[in-house]
Amino acid sequence: KEIVLTGITTTGTPHLGNYVGAIRPAIEASRDPNVKPFYFLADYHALIKCQEPARIKQSTLEIAATWLALGLDTDNAVFYRQSDVPEITELAWILSCVTAKGLMNRAHAYKAAVQENLDKGEKDPDKGITMGLYCYPILMAADILLFKANKVPVGKDQIQHIEMARDIAARFNHIYGRYFVLPEAVIQEETAVLLGLDGRKMSKSYDNTIPIFAREKRLRKLIMKIKTNSLPPEAPKDPDTCTLFSIYQAFATKEEVEALRKRYQEGIAWGEMKQLLFEYINAHIKDARARYEALIQHPERIEQVLRQGGERAREVARPFMREIREAVGIAPLA
Ligand code: TYM
Repeated sequence: KEIVLTGITTTGTPHLGNYVGAIRPAIEASRDPNVKPFYFLADYHALIKCQEPARIKQSTLEIAATWLALGLDTDNAVFYRQSDVPEITELAWILSCVTAKGLMNRAHAYKAAVQENLDKGEKDPDKGITMGLYCYPILMAADILLFKANKVPVGKDQIQHIEMARDIAARFNHIYGRYFVLPEAVIQEETAVLLGLDGRKMSKSYDNTIPIFAREKRLRKLIMKIKTNSLPPEAPKDPDTCTLFSIYQAFATKEEVEALRKRYQEGIAWGEMKQLLFEYINAHIKDARARYEALIQHPERIEQVLRQGGERAREVARPFMREIREAVGIAPLA
């Protein structure tokens, strides 16, 4: 079977970018009988960006409930919390011993943090940057390689991390023999980057997100806030530079998108377009939102699902870690 694996960092409320970039393609893939899915909550990754324990706990609950409400079948998919599988951090150390420091110097997240320091005129370019941030791609490689993932559905921002996981796997294999599978990123081209309220990439760090299960009233309010140009209602408009259109495109069918394209050419008022987008997304998400709202009242049920998933993940991870320890010359655990 083909192993499909993906994770979401537990630092906030899951948003439409997470949905179209990762959750939706992952749930679709999980329905293929030739696929073995591993989906998880990256709570160790969350520690890199967030030092508020309550927020991490709440986010873990919300993201788990989101997957479940959207219809993930956890009898089939192995659905777990990263921190419930200690083999992941164990592997991360072993991988860090074959990973070139230079490779990590090139990671986008680290480079962006350095650039921000330089832009602020800081003397020390590494100011405030933790080893967690620096080694982030190694932990992510461990997530992926431990389960021999073939395919990793992600948004465009994660491509570099998957490539680094491949590099690290190839390096390890070169030294110790062919233990790891080289993973591939799976990107949905049309929705590789979903835009946020301000027209930049939708991201927790930009504070421009639309939560997947925002209540109806809030959803409408957020969509009304999406930035547009100031063309008058009757003027023809360019769909390809329009945030509203690009979000619609991530949800609607090809025919619906073509029909809307025509309306842009004829001239559609922004207010009308926003109302249309709101109704479309709301209809799309409504039933799942009701399931989500019911589920989130029962953290103990979610916890139980995660515990069981963690056990199943370890059943796969333990024997493989035994092989890896043996390969590098470390005694097996008692
Ligand atoms: P995270 O939590 O930032 O995002 C989770 C997933 O959502 C995708 N995504 C988007 N896709 C399209 N448009 C957007 N605006 C958008 N914003 C977010 C991300 O690309 C990602 O697929 N490091 C990862 C979590 C992780 C992981 C892994 C993923 C840890 N280990 C192993 C895959 C495999 C992260 O922080 O994603």
